[in-house]
Amino acid sequence: MAATPAGRAVRRLVVLVSGSGTNLQALLDEIERTGAEEYGARVVAVGADRSGVEGLARAERAGLPTFVCRVRDHATRAEWDAALAAHVAAYEPDLVISAGFMKIVGKEFLARFGGRTVNTHPALLPSFPGAHGVRDALAYGARVTGCTVHFVDDGVDTGPVIAQGVVEIRDGDDESALHERIKEVERRLLVEAVGRIARNGHRIEGRKVIIP
Ligand code: GAR
Repeated sequence: MAATPAGRAVRRLVVLVSGSGTNLQALLDEIERTGAEEYGARVVAVGADRSGVEGLARAERAGLPTFVCRVRDHATRAEWDAALAAHVAAYEPDLVISAGFMKIVGKEFLARFGGRTVNTHPALLPSFPGAHGVRDALAYGARVTGCTVHFVDDGVDTGPVIAQGVVEIRDGDDESALHERIKEVERRLLVEAVGRIARNGHRIEGRKVIIP
C-alpha cells in the first residue's frame, strides 16, 4: 500500500467488469479529477469474465493492466473461481470492486477477498436481487427502485449494505430508460462509497457497515 506525503494510504483497487464499464469510468474520472491521494485509492487493474467488452477498452485507454478469466476456459466453476482469485491476488488489492461483473464469485474468491469486495446492484436490495434487477422491479410494478452498493458475501446480492440510492419509476419506463436513470445515481453512489471506505476504513457489525 503506497503512502501519500501526508501519510495517508492510497488503497489499491482491482475492478471487475462484464460490460460497458461506465461505473469503472466514473471511478477513473473521479480519481483523475481529485488525484489518487485525495480520493484515497487508485485502480491497479481491471478484470473481466469475457473479452472484447467496453469496460476492458476503457481500462486499456487509461493505461491499466487488464485480464480476462472466462468460465468456459475452466473445467469446473470452482476452478474458474480459484483462477479469478489468483488473477486478482496478483495485483494485491486492498479492495475489489465488482462494477457490473455478472458472475457470482465462489468459496476460494471469498476466502481471499470476503469482507473487502464491493458490488453495485441496480435495485434496492433486498428487493430484486440477481441478474435482472431493473427488469424485475418494472415487472413487479414497483413505484420506486434504485441501486445498492454492498459487500459481497456467499449469497446472491445478500451482503451488508453500504449505500443506497432511490430512483422513481415513471409511467412508460422501459428497462433501458429506467436502467440509464439508475446508473446516473449508481455511478455517484459507488464513487462516493468506495472513496469513503478507502479513506476511512470500515467494519462490519452483524449486517451493519460502519464507516468511521
Ligand atoms: C450496473 O447497473 C450494475 O449495477 C449492473 O450492471 C450495470 C453495469 O453497468 N450489475 C448487475 O446487474 C449485477 N447483478 P456498467 O458496465 O456501465 O458499469
